[in-house]
Amino acid sequence: MAEEAKNYHMSTAEFRRYGKAMIDWIAGYHERIESFPVLAQVEPGQIRASLPTEPPAVGESFDAILADVEKLILPGVTHWQSPNFFAFFPSNSSGPAILGELLSAGLGVQGMLWATSPAATELETHVLDWLVAMLGLPAKFLSSGAGGGVIQDTASSSSLCALLAARERATNFASNQRGCDGHLVAYTSAQAHSSILKAMKITGLGEENLRLIEVDEQFAMRPEALAQAIERDKQAGKTPCFVCATVGTTSSEALDPLHRIGPICREHGLWLHADAAMCGTAALCPEFRYIQEGLELADSYCFNPHKWMFTNFDCDCFYVADRKTLIQTLSILPEYLRNKATESGAVIDYRDWHIPLGRRFRALKLWFVIRHYGLEGLQHHVRRHVQLAQRFASWVREDERFELAAPAPLNLVCFRHRAGDEFNQTLLDRLNRSGTIYLTHTKLDGRLALRLCVGQTYTELRHVEQAWNRIRQEVKALTILAKGTGTTV
Ligand SMILES: Cc1ncc(COP(=O)(O)O)c(C=O)c1O
Repeated sequence: MAEEAKNYHMSTAEFRRYGKAMIDWIAGYHERIESFPVLAQVEPGQIRASLPTEPPAVGESFDAILADVEKLILPGVTHWQSPNFFAFFPSNSSGPAILGELLSAGLGVQGMLWATSPAATELETHVLDWLVAMLGLPAKFLSSGAGGGVIQDTASSSSLCALLAARERATNFASNQRGCDGHLVAYTSAQAHSSILKAMKITGLGEENLRLIEVDEQFAMRPEALAQAIERDKQAGKTPCFVCATVGTTSSEALDPLHRIGPICREHGLWLHADAAMCGTAALCPEFRYIQEGLELADSYCFNPHKWMFTNFDCDCFYVADRKTLIQTLSILPEYLRNKATESGAVIDYRDWHIPLGRRFRALKLWFVIRHYGLEGLQHHVRRHVQLAQRFASWVREDERFELAAPAPLNLVCFRHRAGDEFNQTLLDRLNRSGTIYLTHTKLDGRLALRLCVGQTYTELRHVEQAWNRIRQEVKALTILAKGTGTTV
C-alpha cells in the first residue's frame, strides 16, 4: 500500500480541541488580568532575546506554542484590556467582539467586491446605517440617500480618504490625473491628531500647505481664525479645499465648534471632515449629542468603535454625504475584477471606498457587539465611564495640590500637580513603573499634564478610586523624598 503523504495540517478534531483551549486561555487571561503590571516591564530587545534564533524546521505541538505565549509573550504585553489601563485613548474590546473577530477569521472572507461575499458587504452597509440612527448622525450619511458608511482600519485612513476626496473635488479630478501643483491648502486645529499632517504628506498636498489654526482657552479651534486663514490663502492665490474639525482631541478631548466651522466651509466651498475618533461613541447617549452639533454641514465623519465601543481593534466607521465623489476618487476597475453585479450598478463594492483592495469581514464583530449589548447596554457603559471620569475630576478639583489642565467634558481628565513639570514627570514614571495603573501625558499651554481616560470595558469605581489613591500615595512619597533633599514641593 502506497504510503499516504503527511499533510501537515491541523485536523478539524485538533482545531476543535485547541480552539476550545484558546478560548479558555483568553477567558482565564481576562479573569487574572489585574494580576499583571499594566505597562509591560521589559527592556528593549528582551522579548526577542528570549525567542529561538532559528525558525522551526519541523512543526511543533499546539500545546508547546500555547505554553510559550504564557512564558515568552505575556511578559512583553501591555494590558490594554486591564481595567487599570487609563492611558492614551482606550482600545477596548468585549466577549462578543472577540467572538465576531474569530468568526471573521473562520470564514476567511475577503470582501473586496460585493460579488466576493455579498453578506460581508450587505451586513456592513446595514450595520453602518443602524449606527446613523443609534448615534443620531445626520440622515445624509445613510446609504439610502447619496451618502453612506464604510468600515476602515483606522481614523487615520478615514481622514486620508476624506482629504483625497476633497483634493479631487477641488480640482475636478485633475489631481488624480496630473498630480498636485502646490496650490491646495487644508486647515485643522493646532490640537488636531498627527494623522492629518501625515495625510497631507501622503496625498501630495504637502506639509507646508496645512494651516494649524489657533485654539481658544478650551483648546478648541477658533472659527474666526479659520475664516481669516482661508481669506489670506485665497488672496495669496491658493486654493483652500479641506478642513478637519476634531470632536474630542487626543490631548485634551477638546470639541471644535462644528456649528460655527460648517458655515465657513460652506461659504468657501471647502470639504469639512469631522474626526470623532474616540468621542463619537458618546453620541450613543442623547445627552452627549451636543458634541456633534453642526455635523449636518460636514461632508464626512469618522469615529472608532475600536476605541470606546467595545469592538476590538481594528474598526473605524467612515461616513460620506456624497459617495460618488469618494468612489470617483478611488475607483480603478482592472479587467480581472469585472463582474456582472458591479456592472449592474445595483451593488456596493467597498474596494472603491478605501485605500487597499482587500478587506476583512469586520462588520461581524460590530454586529455581534450591537446585538449583544443592544443600544441600552452600550449607553449604560458609556454613561458609567463618563460618570467615573467626572468623579475623578471632582477629586482633583477638591485637592488643592492638584489642578485640572483642561475642561473634562466626557471621559478624559487632564490634570497636574501644582509642583511643576519635573515633579509631574517623576510622578508619572513612578506610577507607570509600579504596574498598578497606566497613565500617559500631554503638553497643554506648554506645561506637562497627566491624562486619565476611563474607557476600558471593565473599569469600575474601585479601579478609579484605586488610581486616585495610588496617585496620592506617590505624591506623598515624592514629597517626603523632596523634603529629605531640601527641595520644595
Ligand atoms: C482624534 C483622533 N484622531 C485620530 C486618531 C488616530 O486613530 P487611529 O489609530 O484609528 O488612526 C486618534 C487616536 O487616538 C485620535 O484621538
